[in-house]
Amino acid sequence: MMRALFPALAIACSTAGAARAQEADEGERLFRQRCASCHTIQAGQNRIGPHLAQLAGRQAGSVEGARYSPALRAADLTWDEATLDRFLANPRATVPGTTMTFSIPNEAQRRSIIGFLLRPAP
Ligand code: HEC
Repeated sequence: MMRALFPALAIACSTAGAARAQEADEGERLFRQRCASCHTIQAGQNRIGPHLAQLAGRQAGSVEGARYSPALRAADLTWDEATLDRFLANPRATVPGTTMTFSIPNEAQRRSIIGFLLRPAP
């Protein structure tokens, strides 16, 4: 019974932009739960980590007034879907010496969070 239901649900959910919106909602929930203790999405509001507003196309380690490790400042990375995916999967392998050690090993969760962070500003 359940096995018959799941594929139908998956198809229903993967249609159109509804799926993307849903993913961003999930991303927002995960962001609040996993990232918001150290990051905001308000420009200028740095916490332990830099703010993550206008992240798409931003050079790594470039937020004014944020406390960065020398490693992230020197990293030659521009934040997009691919670089965020690598960084969040394993920050220390992507940027050796980074002070962000928190990671998201789950690929689907990473995709949701990245979708939320890179969504166009309202
Ligand atoms: C325990 C605190 C902490 C948590 C939790 C955390 N981060 Fe970070 N994050 C940091 C710190 C500190 C830095 C700066 C690292 C450095 O300078 O090496 C950082 C840097 C970043 C950067 C690079 C920003 C830039 O300006 O280059 C991104 C992107 C990022 N974090 C995303 C996330 C996401 C998404 C989450 C949740 C899944 C998260 N972080 C969870 C502390 C945290």
